Amino acid sequence: MWDDLRAHHARTAHRRIETLFDGKRAEDFSVRVGDTLFDYSKTNIDAAGRDLLIGLLDKARVADRRAAMFLGKAINETENRAVLHTALRNLDGGPVKVGGQDVMPEVLATLRRMEGFADKIRSGVFKGQGGAITDVINIGIGGSDLGPAMAVRALSPYHDGPRCHFVSNVDPGDIADVLRRCDPATTLVIVASKTFTTIETMTNAHTARAWMSEAVREPAAQFVALSTSKSKTEAFGIPAERVFGFADWVGGRYSVWGPIGLSLMIAIGPEAFRAFLRGGQEMDRHFRDADWHENMPALLALVGIWHAQVCGYASRAVLPYDNRLGRLPAYLQQLEMESNGKRVSMDGADLNVQSGPIVWGEPGTNGQHAFYQLIHQGTRVVPCEFLIAARGHEEELHHQQQLLIANCLAQSEALMKGRSLDEARARMEKAGFEGDELERQARHRVFEGNRPSTTLAYLRLDPFTLGQIIALYEHRVFVEGAILGINSFDQWGVELGKELATALQPIVEGTVPATGKDGSTAGLVGFLKGHGA
Ligand code: F6P
Repeated sequence: MWDDLRAHHARTAHRRIETLFDGKRAEDFSVRVGDTLFDYSKTNIDAAGRDLLIGLLDKARVADRRAAMFLGKAINETENRAVLHTALRNLDGGPVKVGGQDVMPEVLATLRRMEGFADKIRSGVFKGQGGAITDVINIGIGGSDLGPAMAVRALSPYHDGPRCHFVSNVDPGDIADVLRRCDPATTLVIVASKTFTTIETMTNAHTARAWMSEAVREPAAQFVALSTSKSKTEAFGIPAERVFGFADWVGGRYSVWGPIGLSLMIAIGPEAFRAFLRGGQEMDRHFRDADWHENMPALLALVGIWHAQVCGYASRAVLPYDNRLGRLPAYLQQLEMESNGKRVSMDGADLNVQSGPIVWGEPGTNGQHAFYQLIHQGTRVVPCEFLIAARGHEEELHHQQQLLIANCLAQSEALMKGRSLDEARARMEKAGFEGDELERQARHRVFEGNRPSTTLAYLRLDPFTLGQIIALYEHRVFVEGAILGINSFDQWGVELGKELATALQPIVEGTVPATGKDGSTAGLVGFLKGHGA
């Protein structure tokens, strides 16, 4: 299968993408879910290539794996866990069983508890020592930060609750900058950690508690915990009524839909949060029911596989022309790279293709004035994934939205069509250049073109649409992982650094000598300690 795809790529690599447009390509190579459109026609995938890619889905038995995931089977084999973030948004779906037991009553009861709590905060019924809560600080890292931080920013037009702040880094500057802006007497601190052991989060939680203790008689009364560990939240001193638990079958990077989304719910309100869940649920239904040829997450995944594993492009850029999606690239970095950045397949053998690609990006139009130079004229091809809304929330600034749309579409057109040497020459001739200088100047102005991109277009970035988009990417990761034979739901690659940091801490503190450390590490410790560390 991979050989067929590589041969197909070799045969078609030099073909110009624009020559594929035969009048119906845009329609044939795009798919809709409700008001959201995914256009992958500006790639070099043709009908035969798509059929070969769909063959990968059958070979990897993705339909069976998908069914196993939705059924709550332990598809996270290295941790022997089910993968059921979809249950968190299964608002009006049927029972979902793990080990024979329906998890939905508990999921829905926790959702209702969160809603009751969020309402109390938003209405001012729940008070801090100084009165109604004005500020919420979410302390968490990775999946316990990126999801709610990304979504709170994305949905700022719907934000009518208290201010929300996010502290993730163990760097003291992160928490200090947030605490400086808050009044402890009217602040709620949410400690978000699935395991309640993550060193950054627990260190910041202790710092926040010390800060609050200085001004508030009962600091624990203004703390909330989001975690799977009842014993650890209790040991920290947070009473059970302010602990929102979830099960181990919710992976950190898939957890924004449940308790980890509490800050989002407090910001936008329970109703809007339910709309966010419904958007995710609609994408789940589509992913489960649609034919592969019409299946948006599967097609997004196949485009990803074509570019990363068949064409060999090392990275992909996520370029939201939607400034409020400014944290989406960071969110997707964790979702995609922590899930599919693995060199060993499920059965322990080495992968025989590349692992998932490097994901990066920034909102447009900002990126245009920064790194698009490389995207257009660099020697490496970077497949680009554009996102654009038809409408913004600022109706009075509709003309700016139109300008944004024009820029987004211009970029994908420029990437595909480029500008030939003849065109560049003609321009330079017009500008008065001639001879060798004309030739030299013209070469700098050539755009090779034939660079692939996709566009996800939607009506407006409301809670429902954001839910759709996040679930779309989650399922894309699932499909790509299934094709690669990877377990997308563990993250052993983060362990070694954690262990070494724990061992290095006493060395940095000076209580243990740096014996046994390599010369570079020992030298750096010496330099930093010599300068006040
Ligand atoms: O170290 C990586 C990781 O485990 C992520 O997968 C996770 O999202 C993050 O740390 C935070 O973990 P926790 O929610 O348990 O604090």
